Amino acid sequence: MPVSLIIGSQWGDEGKGKIVDLISEEVDIVARYQGGANAGHTICWGDEEFVLHLVPSGIFRENVTCIIGNGVVIDPVAMMEEIDMIKNLGYKVDGRLLVSHNAHLIMPYHKKIEEAREKALEKGAIGTTGRGIGPAYVDKFARVGIRVVDLLDRDVLRRKLTVSIQAKNEILEKVYGAEKLDVEAIIDEYVQFDQLIDPYVTDTAHYIGRALRDGKRILAEGAQGSLLDIDHGTYPFVTSSHPTAGGCSTGLGIPPTAIDRVIGIVKAYCTRVGNGPFVTELFDEVGEHLGKAGAEFGATTGRPRRCGWLDLVALNYSSMINGFTELSVTKLDVLSGLDELKICAQYSFNGNIMDRFPSEAHILEQVEPVYKTFPGWKEDISGASTMDDLPRAAQEYISFIEQETGVRVSMVSTGPKRSQTIQR
Ligand code: GDP
Ligand code: IMO
Ligand code: MG
Repeated sequence: MPVSLIIGSQWGDEGKGKIVDLISEEVDIVARYQGGANAGHTICWGDEEFVLHLVPSGIFRENVTCIIGNGVVIDPVAMMEEIDMIKNLGYKVDGRLLVSHNAHLIMPYHKKIEEAREKALEKGAIGTTGRGIGPAYVDKFARVGIRVVDLLDRDVLRRKLTVSIQAKNEILEKVYGAEKLDVEAIIDEYVQFDQLIDPYVTDTAHYIGRALRDGKRILAEGAQGSLLDIDHGTYPFVTSSHPTAGGCSTGLGIPPTAIDRVIGIVKAYCTRVGNGPFVTELFDEVGEHLGKAGAEFGATTGRPRRCGWLDLVALNYSSMINGFTELSVTKLDVLSGLDELKICAQYSFNGNIMDRFPSEAHILEQVEPVYKTFPGWKEDISGASTMDDLPRAAQEYISFIEQETGVRVSMVSTGPKRSQTIQR
């Protein structure tokens, strides 16, 4: 069957970029379906490391066509910068990157409104990436958004932008007491994108429809993570899109019946950037160790990521929503050197055991993790190429994940590079 899906099973930064880059060797198309430049997907080979925010992580495989689908919100400035970066590395982009004409745009006023709103929320702030994601999706759903296709007609763009900026200026000034934006300056900047973006724009849903008919293999690359999903995540501490499996269908126009492989990317422990409940968060030296050994700093914002033990209550919830057909466990090497390891297999709430993940943030704030303890291992596992190369304790850690989720672990990642992966 033609469509595979890569999904972050936790709060993002599970190592999706690495796995997409790895698997894209075997596919024809890699497509992003939601989110925007809030994503930071890292790809490593040799001694080089690249972070992609908008362009799909298949771009470094020359056989692959990359698609930015209708469900993505696109900051044209960020996108052109990224295209230049990739071209400067010597990769062909023209003819290999297609951008949906229906995708909505992120404009400077979206970032301004986000900044003002986060500031006004004070302690209740979401801790967003500041990329204008929320306000851009607000406009999309309020049916006042500006789309990629609008960039191609200067008169249309001028008309729509004028109306939009004037409306946003009212909000900025009257609600947030913030500075107004210069209508003409923004219009002058964005009308330039018509020729720059034109070569990439197409009806990507039709392109994908044809590709499916022709038997092409498609890999859909989720951004963020399932627990940041606007419907299924820890609302309101979520992003404004659908990183979960359903988002793939609406965000690309892929029928659900075409999807047969749903790969959940699971970091061997948990991290979270930004605010919101995190049951297994560690505030001790083990948490510090995970942050240090795992280099847990945001690939988009550089913020330190909060770290904690693996949470199987959350993972089982994520698996239920996404229907994972297999799991890919990443960053197992980061656990090396710890005396003992813990996995949260249940929650306790008001003294009662709870197996259900409560996505309600206020309940999640109150539950306590119930841990199962595992022996650690001291060996460096970053060179392992089969499961048998792993210490017994590491094998048992993976087996426990399979046993508790009922989903096969098909890949184990033991380092950031392509070669540091066990494929089973
Ligand atoms: P994404 O957003 O899910 O693509 O993940 P990020 O790129 O934001 O964060 C994952 C980080 O871990 C990146 O720096 C990767 O290079 C790195 N990484 C991925 N897999 C592994 C692994 O198995 N071991 C280690 N040590 N690092 C990894
Ligand atoms: P990748 O694709 C981790 C988090 C932000 C914040 C919340 C809302 O690299 O896994 P937003 O800017 O989206 O409105 O912020 O979501 N967030 C991410 N956390 N990885 C990401 O992407 C994220 N994208 C957004 O930190 O808590
Ligand atoms: Mg990331």
